[in-house]
Formats: sequence, C-alpha cells, structure tokens
Amino acid sequence: MFSPDQLIAWRRELHQHPELSSQEFETTQRLTRWLRQADIRLLPLPLKTGVVAETGYGEPLIALRADIDALPVDEAVDHPWRSQQAGVMHACGHDLHATVMLGVAHRLRQQESQLPGRVRILFQPAEETFNGAQQMIEAGALEGVQAIFGMHNAPDLPLGALRTRGGALYANVDRFRIRIQGKGAHAARPHEGIDSIVIGSHIVTALQTLPSRVFSSLESVVLSVTRFTAGNSWNVLPQSAELEGTVRTHNDVIREVMPHKIRQLAGRIAAGFGADAELEWIAGPPALVNTPAWADFALALAQARGFRIERTTPQMGGEDFAFYLRHVPGAFVTIGSASPFGLHHPGFDPDEGIIAPAVDYFTELATRALAIVARL
Ligand code: NI
Repeated sequence: MFSPDQLIAWRRELHQHPELSSQEFETTQRLTRWLRQADIRLLPLPLKTGVVAETGYGEPLIALRADIDALPVDEAVDHPWRSQQAGVMHACGHDLHATVMLGVAHRLRQQESQLPGRVRILFQPAEETFNGAQQMIEAGALEGVQAIFGMHNAPDLPLGALRTRGGALYANVDRFRIRIQGKGAHAARPHEGIDSIVIGSHIVTALQTLPSRVFSSLESVVLSVTRFTAGNSWNVLPQSAELEGTVRTHNDVIREVMPHKIRQLAGRIAAGFGADAELEWIAGPPALVNTPAWADFALALAQARGFRIERTTPQMGGEDFAFYLRHVPGAFVTIGSASPFGLHHPGFDPDEGIIAPAVDYFTELATRALAIVARL
C-alpha cells in the first residue's frame, strides 16, 4: 500500500530508467501500472506517451501536471539507483515531479468519497523539447478543467522552501538562425569576395542594440547569440556564415515584433555589404504567466503548511506549462530540492526529502482549489 517508502521506491525506479522526450514508453507503462494498482481511473486520450488519471466525481474539475521526460546527460552521481541507461539521465528531476503527482493521485483516491469534485492528473511527456503540453492539450486533457497547477524542483533552494509569483514567472523562449550568404575568396585577396564573417560580426554587435536601444529599458528582453559558424580553413574566406541564438522576454508584443526587427537589421546590414541574410525564427513556449489569485493561494497554503515561501522576481528560463496557462487559470511553483549541482548537470542530485511534503501540499492544494472553484 501507499507509504513514504513507496514514494522513494517509485522515484528510484523512474530514476533508473530515464527516457528522452517523446520516447517515454516504459515510463508511461510504469506510471499506468502504478495508477491501476490503486484502481485510479485513466482517461482514454490519444497520447503516444504520457498518461492522464482522474480521481473524484462530478464538478468542478481542476488539474495537476507532472512532466516525465529525461535528458541526454551522462549521470555522474554514484547512487545504487543511478541511471541504467547510458547517456540518459533524469537531470531535471522530472522523476521527482512524476513521483509527487503519483503520490497525490493515490492520496486523492483514498479520500475520493470526500472530494468536492474531480482532480485530473496529467503525466506529461516531452517538456524538455517544449511540445508535450501542446500534445496534451490537443488530446483533450484540458477539457472542462477550471484551474491547473504544477511544480518544478529548485536545486538552489533548501528543502522546505517554495517560490513563485503572480504574473510572469518565466519568459517567452524563442530561437533564431541567421544565414549570411557572402562570396568566398582567398584570404589574401578579400576584395575579390564578400566576407561573411565580417558581416556576421557586424550583425552580432548590432543585434545587441535591439534590447538596449529599440525596446524600453524597463522591459525584460535578452538576446543572446550562442553560435557563430563559418569557414573550415585558415586561408579561405568562407562563402557563408550562420548565427544562432535565443530571445527571451516576458512581453508578448516585443516577442511578436522581434523577428521583424532582427530580419530588418540583419538583412540591411548584409545588404550594405552586398550580401544576403536570411532569418529563421523558431517559436518556443510562451511566457509562463501565473494567475495572481492562484499564485497567492499557492503561496498562502505553502506558508500555512510550514514552507518558507519566497515571492520571486520574473525569470528568463522557459517551461512549457505556460501553454496550459494560456487556456485556463492556475499557478506554477518551484520547491527546494537542495542539489549540489543545478538542473541539467551530470552531478544533479536532488534531496528525496522534497517528495513527501510536496505530496501533502498538492493533495491539500487540489482539495482546497476544488472548494474555491465550486464557490466561484
Ligand atoms: Ni525540468
């Protein structure tokens, strides 16, 4: 039967068998088996990976979400429950999140007759590739849901600490590529070519003026060029160059304008040198915007349960939970996992002490949220 030891056993089994985004077949099988053992209803949604469970009856309906995918990281932590899959690791702690929501599902099942409505629990695939939430939404997982809640562990916070804020918590996360087409030449006779490296350098520098000179200094905007690829020789000026990077902002209008500004700036700089620059824009998840009232509710409940709470400032990271919040109100929180190394690091080693209090917290949060939604 369900106990704190059971939580640890589930977590370690998930941790030993991590699977990459959209390949969470065994993880889905395990979660399904553990949910079925407690006779928890599963929704017959058309999902390749991931599973959706439900407890309680009637209305209202709220949802909780856990992500379940792992990362292409080679684990450097030597526990007996270390990853058995070479090169794949639960380095973001999604095994913790899945275990917490599994525990909540079992707990809610035990008190199902007293639940004032239904709680749907989404075990979501492919968070790291930012497409799992959309798959869940397309499969109908949000239908009828009146509020949704989720969590991420925070390695930089101690156990017993919980952090969130109303409004924008994480940023719009977009990616861009710029292909510069110049003209190759001998390095000794650059005047015979069009130097794509020099042009690319001008573009990298000019792009920095978008956050600092085009948008208000009171807005949060980051533009980082993270890759500059060109050439394969010391004495040849290459024909082309490629830049890649990311834009982060909390402002949806800036997000919309940004590709046009980049295209214009890069295109005209290149044109000034007689070259071409082409922009490819790859939209990622939108900014994660918590409903202020639900964020306040999540913080107040955490404080009442003895968590040390922190109202944080907006962060520049991304989280695909943001897609759900574009459809229904809700809140996302982070809970301390006290790891010596951060998320996505091969030495990431969260304290399992995060799990049991988080199960208690989300069980109460779900029950109370149902009561609040019922009164709305
Ligand atoms: Ni994560």
